Amino acid sequence: MISRKMQDALNQQINEEMFSSYLYLAMSAHCEQEGFKGAAKWFGVQAAEETSHAMKFFKYILEQGGQIELKAIAKPEGPFGPLSDCFEKALKHEQHITACIHKLAEQAVAEKDFATQNLLQWYVNEQVEEEAHAGEIVTRLKMAGANGLFFVDAELGRRNAG
Ligand SMILES: [Fe+2]
Ligand SMILES: [Fe+2]
Repeated sequence: MISRKMQDALNQQINEEMFSSYLYLAMSAHCEQEGFKGAAKWFGVQAAEETSHAMKFFKYILEQGGQIELKAIAKPEGPFGPLSDCFEKALKHEQHITACIHKLAEQAVAEKDFATQNLLQWYVNEQVEEEAHAGEIVTRLKMAGANGLFFVDAELGRRNAG
């Protein structure tokens, strides 16, 4: 059993994760159009991963006997610009998601909701990885400069699902 307040907060996070998926899908389309097929694939895999994050909350709410409330997904705001801008935007977005997860964790602690704390621990760890990955790519793109973009893009294209 989770509180009504926790249910609302987790439903809101489903929306945040679905928006993340939408945002990365938009970036995937943008990269494809710019000729960066590797980055397009990377963002496509990332978009699918965000949907799986949303689904993990979805299943948890139902498991706890709660109600699902799906809200409207906002339009991702472009323009996304050059490849380095895309990944800087992605990093900023992940930092925002980390803040959301930490706020949820604070609430779970305040409510002495141990089950939700346990669930959120997975997301706390996941966010460390998400920020590290995006940050690493931002750094690599900076190091590569204009001439090295092709190689970084090829490397991004080797990302597999999961
Ligand atoms: Fe996520
Ligand atoms: Fe993410």
